Amino acid sequence: MSSARKLVFLRFFSSVASSMEKHQVVPDVISDAPQKAMRIKYPTGAKVAFGNVLTPTEVKDIPGVKWAVDANAFYTLCMVDPDAPSRKDAKWREWHHWLIGNIPVEENVPDVCRGETLSEYIGSAPPKGTGLHRYVFLVYKQKERIKFSEPRLTNTSAEKRGNFSITKFAAKYKLGEPIAGNFYQAEYDDYVPILFKQLGA
Ligand SMILES: *[C@@H]1O[C@H](CO)[C@@H](O)[C@H](O)[C@H]1NC(C)=O
Ligand SMILES: *[C@@H]1O[C@H](CO)[C@@H](O)[C@H](O)[C@H]1NC(C)=O
Repeated sequence: MSSARKLVFLRFFSSVASSMEKHQVVPDVISDAPQKAMRIKYPTGAKVAFGNVLTPTEVKDIPGVKWAVDANAFYTLCMVDPDAPSRKDAKWREWHHWLIGNIPVEENVPDVCRGETLSEYIGSAPPKGTGLHRYVFLVYKQKERIKFSEPRLTNTSAEKRGNFSITKFAAKYKLGEPIAGNFYQAEYDDYVPILFKQLGA
């Protein structure tokens, strides 16, 4: 790797902790920031990068997700919004958007499609007038395959999505600290009412 490329690479990784502290993902969601960044890219081309602002339209479909893996490990992936229903009044913190466990590794990349979907992906739906919400992705490395005793949630209902805590979830299944993460922010746009309809709200 050229030294210029190496520098860009290093900067990419060291940005996770500083951006999570700056935007208070630490301590609102986790007590320590992961050292590594996840790469998250949506079918629309939108990329998640250290608290950048994206629109609900840009993030409506399941993104492609990558992080540095160990070949024989399993991983748990989540996406949570600590700002439900708003950052000022986060009484439903966290609203979880995506939760997948037992993600295997295939040819040195995480094979998210073959993971066990606990909660199907739901894009951002920040209500009108509630400002920017933070959408936080975290990955945990499992010590072994886990038998999850969680309700399986579909993308057609908002039930049981709120009042979640990824920190409590990680403690329950002894996942340790997150090994990688990233996040974006989004506020209301015209896609939100469409998503509400999908959720039967
Ligand atoms: C909802 O989930 C189903 C699979 O259960 C999938 O086929 C569909 O595309 C998803 N819809 C949206 C809008 O994400
Ligand atoms: C969260 O819990 C409170 C009570 O503890 C309840 O009133 C509220 O409806 C719950 N919100 C969600 C989104 O589940």
